[in-house]
Formats: sequence, structure tokens, C-alpha cells
Amino acid sequence: MPEAIQFPAGFLWGAATSAYQIEGAPLADGAGPSIWHEFAHTPGCTRAGDTGDRACDHYHRYREDVALMGALGLNAYRFSVSWSRIQPDGRGAVNRRGLGFYDRLVDALLAQGIQPMLTLYHWDLPAALDRRGGWLNPDSAAWFADYARVLFRALDDRVQHWVTLNEPWVVVDGGYLQGVLAPGQRNVFAAPVAAHHLLLAHAYAVQTYRAEGRHRIGLVVNLEPKYPAADTSADLAATMRADAYWNRYYLDPVFLGAYPPELAEIFDTAWPKFPAADLEQIRQPLDFLGVNYYSRQVTRHDPADWPLAAARVRQPQQVHTALDWEVYPQGLTDILQWVTSRYGPLPLYITENGAAFYDPPQASEGVIEDPLRQRYLRDHLRAAYAAIQAGVDLRGYFAWSLLDNFEWAHGYAPRFGLVHVDYATQQRTPKASAHFYSRVIASQGAALSSITPP
Ligand code: FCB
Repeated sequence: MPEAIQFPAGFLWGAATSAYQIEGAPLADGAGPSIWHEFAHTPGCTRAGDTGDRACDHYHRYREDVALMGALGLNAYRFSVSWSRIQPDGRGAVNRRGLGFYDRLVDALLAQGIQPMLTLYHWDLPAALDRRGGWLNPDSAAWFADYARVLFRALDDRVQHWVTLNEPWVVVDGGYLQGVLAPGQRNVFAAPVAAHHLLLAHAYAVQTYRAEGRHRIGLVVNLEPKYPAADTSADLAATMRADAYWNRYYLDPVFLGAYPPELAEIFDTAWPKFPAADLEQIRQPLDFLGVNYYSRQVTRHDPADWPLAAARVRQPQQVHTALDWEVYPQGLTDILQWVTSRYGPLPLYITENGAAFYDPPQASEGVIEDPLRQRYLRDHLRAAYAAIQAGVDLRGYFAWSLLDNFEWAHGYAPRFGLVHVDYATQQRTPKASAHFYSRVIASQGAALSSITPP
């Protein structure tokens, strides 16, 4: 462990959320329904039929939440905008009342000295666009750029960090291939087409930003380093397929202008021939990359696994979260170094990192002990610091999540928050991990050197 940890001056210490997961009031003030609203209201799609109808009621309580961030000492906050609040039908007329919410949120953040990082798309496509084919429609890239332009014009005077898409891999794998997330399609032919249009949407938005914006724009991907279970050619090949599918699928086109060759093998007859001109367009210079990191995968060849023939080998000796994700801090250092060496030394942010654990009930009034989450935070921040020391240009860290919230198809059961939310009363209570994070921030990382938490 390093002796004295000091993160660079100007490092962003933040927390992240997304619109559908926290806001509630999905149809307020003229908003249209999103695919997540419709999916969550479809019987059998989410755990116990949970929906985002109320969530954390952040739409009405954002001032309280911003004050909480200020009290914890955060200097940055990553949130997403709900497209169907801005354009209820996904295209055309702008709903000023929906835009007004984000306008006030940004002002409230800046008044507390908190830098906003705004994600344009965190999975809640306007339902009206899904009825036109959603991301399968070749026009989707232009729809997205038009929506993005509305926000650039309204908020770029105050927002300095823009993110086009959150985790396109999850949008495609969960939404179009496995069918476990909205819009719930399960179609191997649809998945590569949706992925391609998402990449084009990202590129169109970046081009639009170059014409309209004055600050920085990037992409957020979820990365999960893959390690072979055994040193056999079958496991090594499986590891390469898993790595291509998870880690290189979006970054290779964006930074290198080509899809990884393994994808044609994985998708087989479902892999289309994409126009070369599209790939040129997708390769737009970015100002930064956001990396969401949760776990690693030890990988073995497994013909029963579809479509990769590459299965996860559970590591029973390791700590796992409530979602059974292996806790593996070293993977964060590894993946940040991998990104830097493969794609060049660009500014990076850890845009999500965190863990769901079963939190014990309040020990006494206002005290929630969450030692596993504290330790997760400490060990991943140490791993982030190790990456900086190894030469990675890491500019910030955003804990997932500020609040306990609606964890998609898992509903409200998993709790990822630094701050506990009592969903019956909407009372917020910072957990011990939130207080720990505050100490880390106040000491610019030095508090990570001590051995507490357990
Ligand atoms: C990420 C998502 C985020 C949250 C965390 C746990 O994949 O971006 O919304 O669900 O996982």
C-alpha cells in the first residue's frame, strides 16, 4: 500500500445517478413515457413489479439532494437527462417545462460548487421512438443529435462535461439480445444493428457538439477485464471473444475505426457488412472517456454459453456483492492501464464504481454501518490511485450511487447508495460509507492510507 496518498489537484470527487432510477414523476410537466416506463409497467419484467413511478422522488427533492452532496463535500455530480421530458415524442417540439427541471438542477449544483457531468442517454429512450423501431431505425442517430443540440444550446454555458451514451454494451446486450432490459427484445440479428446505430448516434452528437459547444464531450462504457481460467488455447480464445464483446466492441470503432474481428465469429450469420463510411464517421476525437467498473470475469470456454461460448467461472473464495458480482479492485487498475495502452493517453474518469450490499438496519438514530461498502470504496480508490501512479491520466471518480435507487430489472432490492433512502418516507440517511468518502475527499485521498474501515 502506498505511504501517503494524494490525488492530483483538480481531481473530481463525485457520485453518479441516472434519471429513471431516481427522479420519479415520469410523466410530470408534459413528459412523454420512456421505454423504461413501459417496460417496468409490463407484468413480469421487473422484480416484484417495481417501477420508477416514485423512485427517490428526486424530481421534487433535488434541492435537498444537492444540499446533501454539498454537505458530503462532493465537487462533481454525474446525472442523466430524460429525453422524453425534453421531447415527449422523442422528436420535434421541445417541452420547456421538462428542460426547466434540468436548468434548475444545474444552477443548484453550481451554487454549491459542484461540477455537473451530464449524460444525454442513460437507457430511457422515448417510447414514441421505440414505436418507430428505436435504435434499429437508421434515423435514430439524427434523432439523438437533434435532442442533444437542444441541451447543448440550453446548458453548455454551465455544463463543462458532457457524455453522449451510458454503456451502449448494456443497452444492446440487455435490451436487444437477452431481452432482460427495455425494450426487451431478444434477437441476435437486431443486436449488431442497434449497436451500430448507437455508435452513429454518439458520433453525430459529438459532431453537433463541435459546432455548438465550448467544453468537453466523451463516452461512458462499462469495462470488465477478462482473465483466462486456464492457460489452454480454448480458454484463451474464449477470453479473447469475451474481451472483444465486452471491452472492444464500442471502443475499437470509436478510437481505431474498426470493429474487433472476433465479432463476426460471435454473431456469425447475424453480423452485417457495415459501410466503411460509417466507421470513418464513428471515429470522432473525444475529450475524455468515462469508465464504469464493477467486476472482472475469469473466463473459460463453454459451448453451452450463447452467443460467446465463454462462461464466467465463479471465484468462491472472493467477496461477492448482493448481485453476486465478484469484488476485484485490482481489475480497476488493470483496465485503466489497458485503456491507456490500447487507445492512447486520453483523460479518463471513473464514471461509476460501487456495490450493492445488504445494509444492516440503523444501529441508532441516523447511523447505518456498511463496512463492506466502505471497504469496497477504499480498495477501489486505492486501485484508482495505483493507476495514476502507473501513468494513467485519471481526472475523477464518481461513486455509484449517491442514493439507493431503482436498479432496473432488479427493482429496489439492491441498494447501491452512499445514502440510504427510506422509500416509504423518502428520508435520506448518509451511510457510514458516505462519511468515509467525505473524509477521503477532505483529505484529497490521504484518509485511504489508514487501515480503517475494517
Ligand atoms: C450500471 C448502470 C447503472 C447501475 C449500475 C449498478 O451498469 O449504468 O445505471 O445500474 O450498473
